[in-house]
Parts: sequence; structure tokens; C-alpha cells
Amino acid sequence: MQSEFDLITEDILNHPLFIETKNLMHHGNGNTVYEHSLATAITAYSISKKLGLSDELVISTTRAALLHDFFGYDWHEDWFKNYLSQYSGWQRFKRMHAFIHGDIAAERAKEHFNLSERQLKAIKSHMFPVCFSVPTNCEAWIITLSDKIVATREISQTVASYILSVYKKVLVSK
Ligand SMILES: [Fe+2]
Ligand SMILES: [Fe+2]
Repeated sequence: MQSEFDLITEDILNHPLFIETKNLMHHGNGNTVYEHSLATAITAYSISKKLGLSDELVISTTRAALLHDFFGYDWHEDWFKNYLSQYSGWQRFKRMHAFIHGDIAAERAKEHFNLSERQLKAIKSHMFPVCFSVPTNCEAWIITLSDKIVATREISQTVASYILSVYKKVLVSK
């Protein structure tokens, strides 16, 4: 029997464009946008349930969380670095991935899935306080918190893995 989470998310998880996010690297050490988005949606679902939100808000929050990084490109690739290198100073700063991808993800998600204005606003503001848009509804606050919980865990794992590999090299050379 399918879980409530599966029923809420299955159409997005089975969408060809969402499956493509398995090929997009994200927070290092093999982490992909797919893994990160799924973990963020699971965290957002869990927080929404613990807060006792209505079924409608649990569904809205979980689906927007799953699509919060649906920007559809690999920001580590050379083409993005080349794109940024055309600019300098403030013009370059405001085009950095961290500042633009919330808006891109919201526009792209809107094209392929039926999202409410509340969900679109939540996706656009998920990088708060790094981005320029402030969360204005409960979906947005839960998604920005869930994203930070998951990203912190993933980046910590990447850093730990790197430190371990350096230690191994040092110990083997002794
Ligand atoms: Fe993001
Ligand atoms: Fe994220």
C-alpha cells in the first residue's frame, strides 16, 4: 500500500523532467538535485504533519518542496561559469546561481505542474535569507527551513568525506 507521501508526490517523481534531475550534481560527494529535492520534500512533509497543518497545506508544502530546486541545469558546468564571467561586480553577483535559481525553478515548475501562487512564492523565496525575496506563507517558511536542514547535512557529509580522503592519503604516505 502506498504511503500518503507517495500519493502526494508520485506524479512529480515519475515526470521525465524530474527524473532528469538525477543527472544534475548538487551538494558534492555524488549528491544530486533529485536526492536533495526528495530529502527536502520528506523533511517538509514531516514538519508539516508535526505542526498539525491541514491536509491541503501538507500537500501544498510537500509538492512545492519537491520542486523547490527544479531549475533544470548543472550550475557546476563550464557554460555557467562562462556565462557569469561576462559580468563583473554587482551585475555578476546578482546572476549567481544562489540568487537566481529560486525564480527559475518556480517558472519552470509552473510550466509543467499545476501550482498555486502560494507554492510559487514559496519556491521563489526558498533561499531566504540569501535571496532577495522573503517567505510570506507557512509553505515558504517550512520549505526554507527544510532546505537548510537537508543542505547542511549534505554539505557536511561532503566536507567530512573530503577530510577523510585527505587523512587517508596522509596516513598511507607515513
Ligand atoms: Fe535551492
Ligand atoms: Fe535546495
